Amino acid sequence: MNIVVIGKSGQLAFELSREFENSSHQVTFLGRDDIDITNSDIIGASLAPLSPDVLINASAYTAVDKAEEDADACNAINAVAVKNLAIFCKARGAFMVHVSTDYVFNGHKGSPYLTDDPIEPQGAYGKSKAEGEKALLEILPKASCLIRTAWVYSSHGNNFVKTMLRLMSEKTQLSVIDDQIGTPTWAKGLAEACVSASENKTAGVYHWTDEGVASWYDFAIAIQELGIEKGLLSSTIPVLPIPSSQYPTPAKRPHYSVLDKQTAREAFTSCKPAHWRKQLSDMLDELKA
Ligand SMILES: NC(=O)c1ccc[n+]([C@@H]2O[C@H](COP(=O)([O-])OP(=O)(O)OC[C@H]3O[C@@H](n4cnc5c(N)ncnc54)[C@H](OP(=O)(O)O)[C@@H]3O)[C@@H](O)[C@H]2O)c1
Repeated sequence: MNIVVIGKSGQLAFELSREFENSSHQVTFLGRDDIDITNSDIIGASLAPLSPDVLINASAYTAVDKAEEDADACNAINAVAVKNLAIFCKARGAFMVHVSTDYVFNGHKGSPYLTDDPIEPQGAYGKSKAEGEKALLEILPKASCLIRTAWVYSSHGNNFVKTMLRLMSEKTQLSVIDDQIGTPTWAKGLAEACVSASENKTAGVYHWTDEGVASWYDFAIAIQELGIEKGLLSSTIPVLPIPSSQYPTPAKRPHYSVLDKQTAREAFTSCKPAHWRKQLSDMLDELKA
């Protein structure tokens, strides 16, 4: 198959490039220097020569707090560009795999969100991703795979794991929020799900995260424990649990955003979500190597 991946420098794109390394598909990664996905007039000219059978959108505006004061730029990438790409796919008969977020939910549910639970995004980023979802499902209801995920990290790029490792080696004490609950997700597993969806053209809305549940505080403690065990940190520092009210951010975050993965477990037969602590351990091994 001809597969085009939009985005080439992000966490998901990095893991996708490794997943596709030894595949028989013709895979092209396009970054912002190669294509302006916010411009509907030039999308076709850039993409048509590649004749994609499948287009994976690994690009997004992901600066959640900055989005609050930069909503137009955020919308252009997370909503307008998704619409543009879906229109191109519809015209060319291509299948589209797109990734969305737990931030489309309000975070009040208290039990894992089902794929058809009502969405109610709280901030500019969540709203823009919800608009993107809506456009995709309207334009390509039967020829798209929408995968919502959460708390993504990888050995490549900036993320919570790498920030914690840095702060834990620089500071004498750290405070981390303990009243936001979700599931850390290694981008490698997410990339495997995207590859499975692409190869099988698995249409529908799915949730993909690693297994298990954690607060950011639990996640930080695990990073410290495993970081020491693997020699990435030389000593422990006190890590204190604090409520979100003591760490105000411009964007409101869902307090509870665990995603139910049952339909994904059934649909993506070539990959299975693993527990977040095992995934974290494997990613830290990779970081060390
Ligand atoms: N990270 C998370 O915790 C998280 C949580 C839930 C859902 N998600 C979703 O998961 C997906 C993958 O996220 P990620 O963690 O891989 O994000 P990421 O590391 O921030 O990567 C996003 C990529 O999009 C690219 N991009 C932005 N605007 C672009 C444009 N106009 N044209 C082409 N590329 C553009 C960026 O390129 P530059 O590097 O050049 O800016 C970057 O490579 C996204 O849909 C995101 O919304 C992420």
